[in-house]
Amino acid sequence: MSDERLVLGVNRTADGSICLLGSSSFICSIQKERLTRQKHHWGKPNDFRDWYAKRLGALRRPVELVVECYSSDDEIENIEGYHEELREVLKFTGEPRIVQMSHHLAHLYSTFCLSPYKEMAVMVVDFQGSPARLFTETWPGAADAPPDWLEVSSFYRCGERGVECLSKQLWDGDRRRPAGLGAFYGNLTATLFAGPGCEGKVMGLAPFGDPHALGLPPLRVEGERVFIPDAWLEVFADDRGFRFFADGTGTFERCADLAAAGQRCFEEALLQLAAWLHRRTGVDTLCFAGGTALNCVANGRLLRESPFRNVFIPPSPHDGGTALGCALYGLVECLGVPNRFQWVNDFLGPDTEYEGLEALLDNGGGKFSVERPSNLVEQVVELLESGRVVALYNGRSELGPRALGHRSILADARHPHIRTWINRHVKGRELFRPLAPIVLLEAASSFFDIDRPAPFMQFAADVRPDKRDIIPAVTHVDGTARLQTVSEHDDPFLYSLLKAFEARTGVGVLLNTSFNGREEPIVETAAEAVNCFETTAMHALVMPPYVIRKKNEPEIPPR
Ligand SMILES: [Fe+2]
Repeated sequence: MSDERLVLGVNRTADGSICLLGSSSFICSIQKERLTRQKHHWGKPNDFRDWYAKRLGALRRPVELVVECYSSDDEIENIEGYHEELREVLKFTGEPRIVQMSHHLAHLYSTFCLSPYKEMAVMVVDFQGSPARLFTETWPGAADAPPDWLEVSSFYRCGERGVECLSKQLWDGDRRRPAGLGAFYGNLTATLFAGPGCEGKVMGLAPFGDPHALGLPPLRVEGERVFIPDAWLEVFADDRGFRFFADGTGTFERCADLAAAGQRCFEEALLQLAAWLHRRTGVDTLCFAGGTALNCVANGRLLRESPFRNVFIPPSPHDGGTALGCALYGLVECLGVPNRFQWVNDFLGPDTEYEGLEALLDNGGGKFSVERPSNLVEQVVELLESGRVVALYNGRSELGPRALGHRSILADARHPHIRTWINRHVKGRELFRPLAPIVLLEAASSFFDIDRPAPFMQFAADVRPDKRDIIPAVTHVDGTARLQTVSEHDDPFLYSLLKAFEARTGVGVLLNTSFNGREEPIVETAAEAVNCFETTAMHALVMPPYVIRKKNEPEIPPR
């Protein structure tokens, strides 16, 4: 019988997620949205009954401990119902043991002990975390904190001597007067776009605007605390003047100017926070988590302009990664098991599941052809070089929001029109939005202004001026790209694909975007992959060792 000890981490807030971690092996972590097909789906009662336990066989194994984190929402009021569900659905090795941890502490554990560094400063910045009365960490300021005020940023020094919380910014929760950097960007996003999770749209829109055109002031930064000037609050209160409708309606320029101003303010304030934390700690490495750590343009500036020599941002710095933080906290702090994990990739979700695939393809009514080529890599390279758009469904799914080659759509980065074509005919999204490159690690510095691996797609960097015309599909309007470097160690199949493409074309770069249709979460199952392939204008679906083509092939984007 296995003596593996299992801890389950549960994130009950936005981007609801779970993580099952063993004392000697990483078992699984997945966001709820991948199961329910609703983007950014929040944790709710019955998640285990309806989704997690039904779909994840690993949850039949007995767990020793559950660690859960809530945020500032009302879900904590359902705690008894949640626990009843856990006791009913899960098997425990002994008496059911369920503990809570506060939100920023869960972000912290998803970052620092999984980084490759020993001594570091950590910054957690998001929209809002736990109220002070529910903090489960030691912080000297807690005694004077009003119990209902919410953490919006937290600053730590972590290392062999343990974790020290240096400071937090708290906010009274008055939505008319938001405070903190996460709330600033959240309000900026809500002013421009309807619906949750549109921060990436703001970041993509910003380079089209003039950050000075609207005359908006910088954020007020006092040490480690960020305050939003009245001029910005007036903009946020105007819910019509800056609403982005569609490109070409006449509102584009004004919206882009606002996005540019907001992005600039965000970056400048973030750099000031990093400078404060560096002064306070004197260490060389910064770990950064919380939803704001998905802002790859600002992250690129942290890398280049902050006083830190190393910047580590995990692939899932957002709330979806806090389930992992919970599980790790449970293992290390509650059970006393030494940590043996590191973020080496984000492929923490379920593996590919091909059961029923043949029937699924047959049910396509003869629409598909299925091949098992003797040289899969060469065949995929030929498809890409011919201008076709190829979906790749391969291995365990990514936990976080970035498709890193297991649930990806690939194309030729040299193609001058393929970005617009994918945005219009595959992703069904705004035409201004950039698409990202994957690049061989050894070729990265010749194409991009970057001097280190970036395997999690967390940093934007300049495309070198002499390369911009070579890879136009992945070069944004401001000459930048949010790149992912790929080494053989990161992903052997993706690496061999890039190598073969480079051998044939001289360019070790491909376009990579997430495998999903319009406003959908990334596909999780083979059935979803086939359905997305069928209902969009992609040309091929690669599910190693198979290549699936449409007998009635869509138009190939003209060069
Ligand atoms: Fe968060």
